[in-house]
Amino acid sequence: MRNAMAIRRILTAEELILRERTKKVSTFDASLHRLFDDMLETMRDAPGVGLAANQIGVPLQVAVTEIDGTVTELVNPQIVKGSGEQLDWEGCLSIPGYVAEVGRHAKVTVKARDRRGKEFRVKGEELFARALQHEIDHLNGHLYIDLLDSLEELVRVSDASDEVGEEMAAGI
Ligand code: NI
Repeated sequence: MRNAMAIRRILTAEELILRERTKKVSTFDASLHRLFDDMLETMRDAPGVGLAANQIGVPLQVAVTEIDGTVTELVNPQIVKGSGEQLDWEGCLSIPGYVAEVGRHAKVTVKARDRRGKEFRVKGEELFARALQHEIDHLNGHLYIDLLDSLEELVRVSDASDEVGEEMAAGI
C-alpha cells in the first residue's frame, strides 16, 4: 500500500511557530518518512529549493533541499564547519515575492541523520551552502530577514529578476 503525498500549506513570516526552536527527532518511523514525502511534494509545488518542517507547521528538526537535481534530507542538522564568505540574493518560501542580498559562509560542513537515523556529513558550497545555512536557521527560529540591517533591503523579486537566479527567485 502506498500513502499519497500531500501538499501542505507553507506558513508565512508573521506566524509565530516560525520563530520557535524546533525539537530534536528521536524516532525514525513511518510518520517521519511521511513528513519528508510531504515536504518534498510541497517544496516542489511551491516551487522552491529548500524547506524546513516548521514552515509547514511541524516543529521538528527536519529539512530538505533539492539543488541541481540532488535531494538532501536532513534530520537534526548542525553546522560543524563554515568557511569563507558569499554575498548573493536570497529568498524564502515564507516571505513570498521578496529577496535580499545576504552574506553567508561560502562553504559549510553539516552533520545530520537521514530518515532512517543513520548519521552522515555533507559538504556544500555556493547555493547548496546557502540553502543549508538558511534551513538550519529556520530550525532555530531564524529568518534571513534577521540578518539584514533594515527591512528596506528587501527587494521585490520582479524588480530584481535580472540579477536573481531562477532557483533563488523560487525561495528556500
Ligand atoms: Ni526559508
